[in-house]
Amino acid sequence: MLSYRHAFHAGNAADVLKHAVLICCLDYLGQKEKPFLVIDTHAGAGFYPLTAGYAAQNREWEGGVGRLLECDNLPPLLGRYAALVKDSLGVELPAKLPPAGLYPGSPALIQRLLRPRDQAVCFELHPVDFTALKDAFKADKRFRLLREDGLGGLKALLPPPSRRGCIFIDPPYEVKSDYTEVPEHLAGALTRFSTGLYITWYPLLQQLSASAVRETLLGLYGGNRCAAELRTADPDNGVKRMYGSGMVIYNPPWTLRKTLEESLPVLASILGGAEAAWDLWWEGE
Ligand SMILES: C[S@@+](CC[C@H](N)C(=O)[O-])C[C@H]1O[C@@H](n2cnc3c(N)ncnc32)[C@H](O)[C@@H]1O
Repeated sequence: MLSYRHAFHAGNAADVLKHAVLICCLDYLGQKEKPFLVIDTHAGAGFYPLTAGYAAQNREWEGGVGRLLECDNLPPLLGRYAALVKDSLGVELPAKLPPAGLYPGSPALIQRLLRPRDQAVCFELHPVDFTALKDAFKADKRFRLLREDGLGGLKALLPPPSRRGCIFIDPPYEVKSDYTEVPEHLAGALTRFSTGLYITWYPLLQQLSASAVRETLLGLYGGNRCAAELRTADPDNGVKRMYGSGMVIYNPPWTLRKTLEESLPVLASILGGAEAAWDLWWEGE
């Protein structure tokens, strides 16, 4: 089933969290000379117009990146995220909204942060989004673009030749099997490449035990790992909509703890209402 289209959600609060964390991790990998590989198992279309098409229908970005772009004096990671988004949207900060340019999805942010010697593999199954992805990135020789199942294709790419890699796992969770397949494939990937930097996103939904998802993911790996959750709405809102999202990260950069401790409270206050909250868990050495 491929009914999910990320364009409806581009730039929402969940994108802000996942993209800020991705940027922090890639900046960290870029500090060492040795090349790295990024695998984006669920890449989407790459770029999204916010004022046209699907994103303009529910305008989810207004409660996400739109709010952030209006702010001054953000903590460093959020400032870095806002600056990269601003470049893609072609606006000045603090921005006049609505912006006319394109919001950068994960492949676009990866492209910005790869160095000439680094490489990326992006998987996307939806035919329309894959065509957009291919059109946007095919000229970049550092990118391999595959219209294949990203979870199924992951293990064969591991370990990367340089033994340095970031695996970004951002499924739509539109089918329940994603909740079992993600841990299954992560476990398989870890047997091949346990020192990789893995980032896995999950939604916070009323009908789902977030703690069960988080604990399953944290329990798969015994090394350094953490989870970050950002709640931007009331979990008891009575409707089956997402009230926030979380990420589990294996082998996080040592800088991530302080970065998240300074960024999450700011994100909660900018993106959430009175019910906004955040949480962090750290496990390992
Ligand atoms: C949440 S969106 C990705 C957003 C993107 N990572 C970003 O941050 O800009 C999930 C994407 O995964 C695609 N997809 C769903 N199942 C997939 C699979 N098994 N393998 C690869 N792509 C898949 C969907 O078509 C959708 O575009």
